[in-house]
Amino acid sequence: MNKVRQKDLGTPAGTGGETVSVEIDGMPATVNAGTSILRAARENDVDIPKLCATDSLKPFGSCRMCLVEVEGRKGYPASCTTPVEDGMKIRTQTDALAKLRRNVMELYISDHPLDCLTCSANGDCELQDMAGAVGLRDVRYGFDGENHLQAPIDTSNPYFQFDASKCIVCSRCVRACDEVQGTFALTIQGRGFQSKVSAGIDEGFLDSECVSCGACVQACPTATLMEKSIVDHGQPDRSVVTTCAYCGVGCSFQVEMKGDQVVRMTPYKDGEANHGHSCVKGRFAWGYASHRDRVLKPMIRENTNEPWREVSWEEAIAYAARRFKEIQDKHGRKSIGGITSSRCTNEEVYVVQKFVRTAMANNNVDTCARVCHSPTGYGLKTTLGTSAGTQPFDSVMDTDVMIVIGANPTAAHPVFASQMKRRLREGAKLIVIDPREIDLVRSAHIAAEHHISLSPGTNVPVVNALAHVIVSEGLVDEDYVHDRCDLESFDAWKTMILKPENSPEEVAKVAAVDAETLRAAARLYGGANNGSIYYGLGVTEHSQGSTMVMGMANLAMATGNLGRSGVGVNPLRGQNNVQGSCDMGSFPHELPGYRHVSEDRVRAQFEEHWGVTLDPKPGFRIPNMFDAACAGEFLGMYIQGEDLAQSDPNTHHVEAALSNMECIVVQDLFLNETSKFAHVFLPGTSFLEKDGTFTNAERRINRVRPVMPAQQGKQEWQITQDLAQAMGYEMHYESSAAIMDEIAALTPSFQNVSFKMLDDIGSVQWPCNEAAPKGTPIMHIEQFVRGKGLFVETDYVPTEEKTNRKFPLLLTTGRILSQYNVGAQTRRTENNTWHAEDVLEVHPHDAETRGVRDGELVSLTSRKGDITLRATITTRVKPGVVYTTFHNPETGANVVTTEYSDWATNCPEYKVTAVQVAPASHRSSWQETFAKRAEAQGKVSTPPVDLA
Ligand code: SF4
Ligand code: SF4
Ligand code: SF4
Ligand code: FES
Repeated sequence: MNKVRQKDLGTPAGTGGETVSVEIDGMPATVNAGTSILRAARENDVDIPKLCATDSLKPFGSCRMCLVEVEGRKGYPASCTTPVEDGMKIRTQTDALAKLRRNVMELYISDHPLDCLTCSANGDCELQDMAGAVGLRDVRYGFDGENHLQAPIDTSNPYFQFDASKCIVCSRCVRACDEVQGTFALTIQGRGFQSKVSAGIDEGFLDSECVSCGACVQACPTATLMEKSIVDHGQPDRSVVTTCAYCGVGCSFQVEMKGDQVVRMTPYKDGEANHGHSCVKGRFAWGYASHRDRVLKPMIRENTNEPWREVSWEEAIAYAARRFKEIQDKHGRKSIGGITSSRCTNEEVYVVQKFVRTAMANNNVDTCARVCHSPTGYGLKTTLGTSAGTQPFDSVMDTDVMIVIGANPTAAHPVFASQMKRRLREGAKLIVIDPREIDLVRSAHIAAEHHISLSPGTNVPVVNALAHVIVSEGLVDEDYVHDRCDLESFDAWKTMILKPENSPEEVAKVAAVDAETLRAAARLYGGANNGSIYYGLGVTEHSQGSTMVMGMANLAMATGNLGRSGVGVNPLRGQNNVQGSCDMGSFPHELPGYRHVSEDRVRAQFEEHWGVTLDPKPGFRIPNMFDAACAGEFLGMYIQGEDLAQSDPNTHHVEAALSNMECIVVQDLFLNETSKFAHVFLPGTSFLEKDGTFTNAERRINRVRPVMPAQQGKQEWQITQDLAQAMGYEMHYESSAAIMDEIAALTPSFQNVSFKMLDDIGSVQWPCNEAAPKGTPIMHIEQFVRGKGLFVETDYVPTEEKTNRKFPLLLTTGRILSQYNVGAQTRRTENNTWHAEDVLEVHPHDAETRGVRDGELVSLTSRKGDITLRATITTRVKPGVVYTTFHNPETGANVVTTEYSDWATNCPEYKVTAVQVAPASHRSSWQETFAKRAEAQGKVSTPPVDLA
């Protein structure tokens, strides 16, 4: 029996609230109504054989292995499709059943290769287990007749193979693709003996619609669908439960190990965010952790023209500390600062912001949330009182109408997208507000009711128009507003929203959308029992990002859609721990728990604990740091796991700032674009080595457990601690658990959190304190965290970035499923199979008028710079809009983006850039420089894959 296989109860849990009493093989049992006999037996440790059933899928009843006898009933019902009834007497083991099951198994085995000893699934094969369980000893039919034993193996997918000779046509893979993933890429073709599993229209997995989520591989009870890593390395012998280090869904995984080698990542069934599902990144794209590009020795250099020199940890830390102190001695306390990483654990982030506030003695700390969801923090805190989303992911299963704004969940939050699609297939309605036709607008078995394909930069007028209809057509939930909200602010907002410029007819002109669609969408959301809003960076990365977040909160409050399951305003946060990095005090104006540095009482608490006097004034935000660097006033930076040179807007300005600094310390897995400007490189740890916690988009604190020691010798919090000590601040943690204890002691929303608690109960959603000892899945139930919900007037102030004759198109950006952010991890995996380079999507009309041809090189020019990339001609974008991803450094997407940013938080306006597109014959000058720099650094910019 496989040592690491997760328990399978055969069919999903019964949904009936009541219990029934049954007798199984003479033993009394009480189970939930609606439970199948198969599950009822397994819950009571009676293993009825099964093949086509598994507890992540609806019962199917095809294999006939699970037959049972029920007293008073004729025949032998399939236990997977027969629900328990009160008083039922069930027999699972009789001579007749044994014979029937053996006969069925005999038929399967007669058409199955008998190579168990050399099969990669040996020890983890349900067919093998069942043959043993039913006592099959020989096969009467022989193996000479017609069979499938010579069927070819499809190895087209880089991560798994399909060996049709081993298929028992149980359909688990097909159902997993349909029910769990929602892609519908697989079918059973043919009938009877001819039936076979087919990806697409017999295309092979790679060319089909398959998105490589791996759900089918996980569901397969045989070696038919099998991870290539298992084929290569064999079955695992131990496992550790941890959390995915890619996106903000925060999927739990069982890391399966053979010795010290990872051989498989299996989504963890008890993971509250993913319930046993995953996407291609989390399940398969972990090879970067052992990629040969990984730097494992600290390095230093006097200036950036010199080659790197490997040194000891002691020398690197002492060197960094000396240079930081020299800068401060010469230019003052505030001339240096630090950046925390949303890829790192809460504990690692907490220590970095503490290091800046204590050892550097200023508040110059910021995080990548500055460039993504800082408007979420501002907008939701202002209106509702908390800088975070309101719901657990599971809440979507209670929603009737969901609005998805400026987010592309199937690409960026794939596991949650599968859950959304499940709810949509059950009948919920969808409104998509996005300039581009994202997959959710139309894909297998789902279609959005309305797609409002607005012009980039016009979110605010669109949300105002929706609110205008809701107010003017009497769709406001007056009782809710009266009981829960600040009425003065509501009246002011109502007056603003009823202004003629906010009517759908006027907004239609501004946003280039249809007024009737706006009205219909508003009525749909306003009339829903439960209406929910999900949004992403297409909301926040605008000069009106904070206004739009507040606009959505206004809409939800006005319709009473906050404070219960199925509703809410939910940011789909990008990075694995961007929520956590904000919670941990990574902003220059806030200490952990979102408390302002100017609050004497709060500061006093930290001062007592940390033994220093804290600066009551906010420090620099990232853009301020760059501006001050260009002015020669900010000259040193400690950057934990972020590639500022690639991810921040207006690359020319960022590079000028970085070039001006006297000491840049980069702590990361790989040399990246920012390290080209660095003087010290401190190697970091991958998620497989980290010990700590990540907090996902639903405020869920999940454990991250090490499966191997830190490959470069130190946990990242130890590196920061050493640096603090070298700078003269005494920091002495024994473990990351001790850091969490300090976080809990100083952060009210984390008061009850500890590693022990998380190990005991799995995960918890903050606030988790005396008032909510088991955490808070849904926020604002009785009242808003700020008391009364505050309506904020959301007048539309258009961006300064305008199209004109020279730059007539609007560029907007986004992500693709297989790659992740700046690609540092995914570009070092086989995920390059799907997306080797960023391309520019252009509408056929715009392509034709410019002579742009599909697949050919084009120049993309803005007021800030120009780059070249390949064009893809598609109607996914509307005329006047072009779109690209930003996963490859060579693309330099941020060379063209502007310095405009959100008025409240400085979040850059990545989503709106006026550009021109033209056919090109050679690379841009920036890209030539990039290539030369990459060569000088001795770095292959898109390295070949090594999944050793
Ligand atoms: S990997 Fe996922 S998308 Fe592809 S066929 Fe399997 S279940 Fe479907
Ligand atoms: S590939 Fe596996 S899961 Fe799919 S039908 Fe064949 S045996 Fe069943
Ligand atoms: S959805 Fe996000 S957290 Fe889950 S496996 Fe994919 S990348 Fe990881
Ligand atoms: S497990 Fe019940 S019919 Fe297959």
